Amino acid sequence: MDYSDSRHKPHFLGKVLMAAILTALCIFILKQSPGFSGDSMFSRHEPGVTHVLVTGGAGYIGSHAALRLLKESYRVTIVDNLSRGNIGAIKVLQELFPEPGRLQFIYADLGDAKAVNQIFAQNAFDAVMHFAAVAYVGESTLEPLRYYHNITANTLVILEAMAAHGVKTLIYSSTCATYGEPEKMPITEETPQFPINPYGKAKKMAEDIILDFSKNADMAVMILRYFNVIGSDPEGRLGEAPRPELREHGRISGACFDAALGIIPGLKVKGADYPTADGTCVRDYIDVTDLVDAHVKALDMARPNKVSIYNVGTGKGRSVKEFVEACKKATGANIKVEYLDRRPGDYAEVYSDPSKINRELNWTAQYTDLQESLSIAWKWQKSHRNGYGSPSVMTA
Ligand SMILES: NC(=O)c1ccc[n+]([C@@H]2O[C@H](COP(=O)([O-])OP(=O)(O)OC[C@H]3O[C@@H](n4cnc5c(N)ncnc54)[C@H](O)[C@@H]3O)[C@@H](O)[C@H]2O)c1
Ligand SMILES: *[C@@H]1O[C@H](CO)[C@@H](O)[C@H](O)[C@H]1NC(C)=O
Ligand SMILES: *[C@@H]1O[C@H](CO)[C@@H](O)[C@H](O)[C@H]1NC(C)=O
Ligand SMILES: *[C@@H]1O[C@H](CO)[C@@H](O)[C@H](O)[C@H]1NC(C)=O
Repeated sequence: MDYSDSRHKPHFLGKVLMAAILTALCIFILKQSPGFSGDSMFSRHEPGVTHVLVTGGAGYIGSHAALRLLKESYRVTIVDNLSRGNIGAIKVLQELFPEPGRLQFIYADLGDAKAVNQIFAQNAFDAVMHFAAVAYVGESTLEPLRYYHNITANTLVILEAMAAHGVKTLIYSSTCATYGEPEKMPITEETPQFPINPYGKAKKMAEDIILDFSKNADMAVMILRYFNVIGSDPEGRLGEAPRPELREHGRISGACFDAALGIIPGLKVKGADYPTADGTCVRDYIDVTDLVDAHVKALDMARPNKVSIYNVGTGKGRSVKEFVEACKKATGANIKVEYLDRRPGDYAEVYSDPSKINRELNWTAQYTDLQESLSIAWKWQKSHRNGYGSPSVMTA
């Protein structure tokens, strides 16, 4: 200490200079890093570059969509508050696309209108793909306000920000749950919408708000009503990794894989007395790779003053029993199946008529082999037993 004290004076200026250089270097590195929101490449429109805001891009479908957009040379900003998504998925994307001006991640809550407005003010978006939502039918019957808030109200926040900042193109994630339980199958876009659970109702309300608003706002809107989404990136870079605490509300593919991994003792099929061929529910399972392809095509075909609504499904219904058989084959596990009472808010049979999107966007499902889709997803699950490596300590 004595030693350094004696040299204090002559080196004072040097230290100040060093500190200044280090600070400048830090700012430089920050600016270069893909997550820095002040990056000017994101704040200016660039001819030939379409900048897409992907809300919920840390989630299952949003991350796959971001990957596809980035592969197709779009500029992507992901906004997610990680309430349900995974920072690990963002990291995968950032490692794949580290070049400046490609991908930016902004941690923010879409329920925070001020924050959302600031994001729109600081970034030059050309289009919005709005995936962020809460999305479990069962949970929605238990916590309806969570659904109306995070689906309907947050969509309103997005629309207001788009209006205030002149962003005119919206691709909206809707769902077959907005149809409820129609008498006639398959479901076309003209099938009347009578949703029977808060999830479907909240999405239907959001659709209505979008439709009303777009009438005098020369917007280009594509509403995609997905059926049941399964599968994952065929190259194994991304997967589906919902929070462990959501397991009880989870979707069938997640439950199948959990059973195959021995995380849960077996599968609980809720309802075997539905009026279907084998008594279990019938659903239309759409592979996420096909689904994101529909998004890119929709974005490509979006035109001002035009609102289009499309079902995105395979057009083929598969029973839960069939699904379980495919899952057993894909995983090679002998999954124990237990049949329980029906789950509130569920409907017997749902499958799509995808002919409109086929006709108008030249889109068809390519991954229609259930077992193949599940095999791809299973590969990721097997090699990511801890999902994206989420924190091992979970709060109750
Ligand atoms: N998975 C399906 O089978 C299915 C079917 C039909 C429709 N959809 C719709 O597709 C969209 C994506 O679903 P998913 O399965 O990828 O869900 P997900 O839960 O994996 O992803 C949703 C993402 O949104 C984020 N998010 C939620 N609320 C937020 C908020 N307030 N602010 C910022 N981020 C927030 C979450 O953190 C998460 O990353 C949803 O709109 C869902 O309703 C999904
Ligand atoms: C995410 O957003 C919701 C509001 O939609 C909020 O209630 C929740 O606390 C946020 N979570 C985090 C981790 O910021
Ligand atoms: C959704 O909204 C509710 C308020 O109704 C809030 O408590 C919750 O944290 C929100 N966010 C999520 C991701 O559920
Ligand atoms: C439709 O898509 C197929 C491939 O999926 C392509 O070969 C064909 O050229 C496309 N047709 C039009 C009219 O774009």
